Amino acid sequence: MKEVAVEKALTFIEPGPVVLVTTRNEDKINVMTISWTMAIDFDQHIVLTTGCWNYSFDALMRTRECCVCIPPASIAETVVGIGMISGEDTDKFKKFNLSALKAKTVDAPLIGECMACLECRVSDYIERYGFVVLKVLRVVVNEDVEDRRILHAVGDGTFFADGEKINLREEMKAKLPPNL
Ligand SMILES: Cc1cc2nc3c(=O)[nH]c(=O)nc-3n(C[C@H](O)[C@H](O)[C@H](O)COP(=O)(O)O)c2cc1C
Repeated sequence: MKEVAVEKALTFIEPGPVVLVTTRNEDKINVMTISWTMAIDFDQHIVLTTGCWNYSFDALMRTRECCVCIPPASIAETVVGIGMISGEDTDKFKKFNLSALKAKTVDAPLIGECMACLECRVSDYIERYGFVVLKVLRVVVNEDVEDRRILHAVGDGTFFADGEKINLREEMKAKLPPNL
């Protein structure tokens, strides 16, 4: 085995999808890209890692809500573009031609171009690590999005799009909760 830089560690374990997180600051909606995501239990808690360097953060902490939207791999360049500029001075929905749709349980918008959106409430924030713990309140799926490939960030500017799906549900049955 060859030793590589310790900074490479995250490129082997960064597991989740790259997501688009929407917020609403009074009348102004915004969206940011987040690749540090994690599911932490079977009770609809998920974690995003972020902090006050992002304009979205203030709205996230103040309103304590957001939508976590899952973009298809086909819009990877848009996803990166969204994460390269701030909503402080740009209307990213307009710039990237995104459709803001009304959510049911939160004021932050859904994104029409995404394959799924999770309406979420902030249930905790662990400042030391920038962990924003979210409780998912409602899930909507957009079956009109044909590309169902989820985008995964390696962490070094490269990405994987989902490939072959391996179905081991039968083998895992004893550990899977109902409705999953
Ligand atoms: C591929 C990609 C992944 C990113 N992942 C994260 C992340 O996990 N956490 C984070 O705080 N910022 C992440 N960013 C940076 C934010 O998306 C970026 O700072 C964005 O401009 C914030 O938008 P805002 O200022 O409008 O809130 C990522 C950017 C890109 C391009």
